[in-house]
Amino acid sequence: MIDTIARTRDMNLHLNSGGSALHILKSITFAINPGEVVSVVGPSGSGKTSLLMVLGGLEKASDGVVAIGGTNLAGLDEDQLADMRRQNIGILFQNFHLIPSMTALENVALALEIAFDDLPVEEIMARAKAALAEVGLAQRETHLPSALSGGEQQRVGLARAIVTRPRLLLADEPTGNLDQETAASAIDLLFALARRNNMAVLLITHDNNLAKRADRRMRMNRGELQELEATVS
Ligand SMILES: Nc1ncnc2c1ncn2[C@@H]1O[C@H](COP(=O)(O)OP(=O)(O)O)[C@@H](O)[C@H]1O
Ligand SMILES: [Mg+2]
Repeated sequence: MIDTIARTRDMNLHLNSGGSALHILKSITFAINPGEVVSVVGPSGSGKTSLLMVLGGLEKASDGVVAIGGTNLAGLDEDQLADMRRQNIGILFQNFHLIPSMTALENVALALEIAFDDLPVEEIMARAKAALAEVGLAQRETHLPSALSGGEQQRVGLARAIVTRPRLLLADEPTGNLDQETAASAIDLLFALARRNNMAVLLITHDNNLAKRADRRMRMNRGELQELEATVS
């Protein structure tokens, strides 16, 4: 229990929409351990992204406990929350969210610079290059996102997410915009990096075959998170 990366207990999220409060996440109790890959499936609108936002400290739970590395997020101010996020958590988006005017290397370096603003620039560039090499893009450092394929853009997104050596990677339908073959190789890479770095991954996906590759599978339904039966391997 002590080395749990992230956990929630009886966590609820209410959001206001047009004057009425919506109960988005309902009494969620969940934990993810170091190096563990957990998948979350569930219909659109069921609350998957909302859960990711709460775990990433981007959305504040209405009540209940949310803790990252044993620290209760409720006790942190905005600056502490941002530090916690930058130093513990990586996020991988469906739409990559790369900065179009920056090269692949600059996109990765920026994430590291923001996370650890006291690192010397040589160190930042060296680590950013190493992260790009880890995702097989050493030859694409100076390319702008527009000059990269979708699969390559998502690899830059992955390099950016792992360059800070997060203990938890939150991935929100990361293969949703990739064709099947590209998606498969992106996920192989993601799993390999998770294993190598003992990084926990929360993988939100529509793809059941992908979900089955996780160590543990969960399903979100109308804001309720349930554990699915153990994956047969
Ligand atoms: N900022 C917001 N304000 C109000 N309602 C929201 C907001 N963001 C999401 N929702 C609602 O929360 C529910 C869950 O959304 P979401 O977490 O994005 O689901 P999923 O990722 O599973 O598709 C949906 O009904 C959505 O409309
Ligand atoms: Mg979503």
